[in-house]
Amino acid sequence: MMKPLFTALIAAGATMALSVTVQAETDGEAIFNQACMACHMTGAAGAPIKGDSEAWEPRIEKGIDTLYEHSINGFNAMPPKGGNMSLSDEEVQAAVDFMVKAAE
Ligand code: HEC
Repeated sequence: MMKPLFTALIAAGATMALSVTVQAETDGEAIFNQACMACHMTGAAGAPIKGDSEAWEPRIEKGIDTLYEHSINGFNAMPPKGGNMSLSDEEVQAAVDFMVKAAE
């Protein structure tokens, strides 16, 4: 029952990732400050803290597409789009890029 929807979401995510490389203008830091900081600066609910390389390493190993997918659709206590459904997929991905870069 869930499978076709899941596949469609992955496909949509892949298309988005492609369009992002073409026009990577979105300000990930601004989106992070607005939508992600509340949990990802404090570690609330077990969120990996921005800049904490140890916390991010095993996540980065999953691959950036998985991180995009989990940020957009949610992952355990991580709410879809950080609970801010007005964000576009590109904006969420830019915020992920910002956090991943900070952890490298
Ligand atoms: C309500 C708190 C909360 C907010 C707001 C939030 N996150 Fe998270 N996030 C979490 C938690 C908790 C986890 C850890 C989930 C786990 O590993 O079980 C997480 C994990 C993640 C991960 C790692 C996923 C993985 O597969 O390991 C990424 C990437 C992420 N968040 C991105 C974002 C982005 C981008 C935003 C802003 C748009 C955001 N988060 C906003 C709580 C939050």
